[in-house]
Amino acid sequence: MISKTPLRIRVRRMDYDMSGLRRYWYNDNAWITHFLNALSTTFPDGERFFIHSVRNFEQQIRDPELQAQIRAFIGQEANHGKEHEAFNQALIDQHGLPLESKLKFMKNALAWAKKRWSPREQLAMTAGFEHFTAILANLLLERKDAIADIAGVYSDMFLWHAVEETEHKAVAFDLYQAVDGDYWLRVKSMALATFFFMLVTLRMQYSLLKHDNQLGNWRDALGFAKFMLVKPGFLTRIIPQYLDYYRPGFHPWQHDNRHLIDPHIAALAAHELHAVKAA
Ligand SMILES: [Fe+2]
Ligand SMILES: [Fe+2]
Repeated sequence: MISKTPLRIRVRRMDYDMSGLRRYWYNDNAWITHFLNALSTTFPDGERFFIHSVRNFEQQIRDPELQAQIRAFIGQEANHGKEHEAFNQALIDQHGLPLESKLKFMKNALAWAKKRWSPREQLAMTAGFEHFTAILANLLLERKDAIADIAGVYSDMFLWHAVEETEHKAVAFDLYQAVDGDYWLRVKSMALATFFFMLVTLRMQYSLLKHDNQLGNWRDALGFAKFMLVKPGFLTRIIPQYLDYYRPGFHPWQHDNRHLIDPHIAALAAHELHAVKAA
């Protein structure tokens, strides 16, 4: 059974064209689109928080392999933040979505977390959030119908993010195990991370739907329920892997899903910044 990262983590600098964004870019469904918009709103500052919490302990690591993985983790998350920032700005500029207050809320909430929680608690939270993103990424990669419903270039962007979340899924976890490894803090932090993640995302989705006057759109609400529960089962299908995290001997690579990212690696090169510049 694999108990460490079995691949080389590669940092790719991407440059997605955010113009011509459809208002309801996920299958023309307002409820699903705003759920994913809410997720994207949490990403840039969330990812900066992950980087910060990993940096707090980076110097303690002597294993060159893990050191290199940490550097790659930081590089990947920084690029995710940059692209999702551009995506969020496109939602503001092209559709007038009121994201500024939500982005500010994220900034303030995470500044509060940095003051309130100890570095080890912050790292344990990051390891938990990273498992969350890894299992959501796995679902996007596994269920081709989920990606197919995303319009245009955004499917490429979400796919890229999913591939890299898979590549680095064990880095924060391995760092946590190396510098602390306390089981109870790990699982307690996952429970807290889940609570905050659901609360913040659903609250933002509600607010965006209200802004667009779409709360009463029952057709899209039913579509969202189907998306969460049945096809692709954004909530239901991740439950077994989510619960895995609470096992004492858990490691993210016990679920080896390299075969899901292998077919996408070459295609990603087409969007890399150096490739765009060289063209
Ligand atoms: Fe990320
Ligand atoms: Fe990540």
